[in-house]
Amino acid sequence: MASSIRRLLLVGFMGSGKSTVGRSLARTLGWPFHDFDDTVEEEEGRSIARIFSESGEAYFRAVEDRVARRLLDAEPAVLAAGGGWAAVPGRLRTVPPGTCSVWLKVSAEEAVRRAEAQPGSRPLLQGTDVLEVARTLLNERTPRYAECDVKVDTEGQTVEDVSARILERVGLIPENDSALETR
Ligand code: S3P
Repeated sequence: MASSIRRLLLVGFMGSGKSTVGRSLARTLGWPFHDFDDTVEEEEGRSIARIFSESGEAYFRAVEDRVARRLLDAEPAVLAAGGGWAAVPGRLRTVPPGTCSVWLKVSAEEAVRRAEAQPGSRPLLQGTDVLEVARTLLNERTPRYAECDVKVDTEGQTVEDVSARILERVGLIPENDSALETR
């Protein structure tokens, strides 16, 4: 699998660490890193929270998908999808050849804890009963996330642990580290 992989696509619920782990993987591999949410914000010139409140979720989803299609052309690349992008049925089957999708698993409880550390950044996790909302969303999305090629637990793990586990599972050798075996 490893030699044909030119793109790692990180998928998972809000707060699963896609951006942090993505940056770490990109550094290790010497590959560019692209984050769907950051690219949407750059293109729109406003934050995700503002896009949701000013233009609505449907508008955000349309921009997100357009950005995703463009970024999925890049190679080599490490990509971090927004938590909702891969939740659309069938979407993971549309990724181009050479893409390895990786599900970063996190519980609703931990996702909410992490979201609370960045207040206002996640419009879908706001208001009362945030934990209930997170549990419901995560339950709905889990079958879609589970279609990923590789699944990795993130809870209680450092960014370095998660990144190393992904590289091991995918069989990619970090740049300048020919001592690592592919599997
Ligand atoms: C969303 C996740 C967010 C962002 C938007 C919607 C979702 O990205 O795209 O707030 O529907 O799960 P992160 O998963 O990077 O937080």
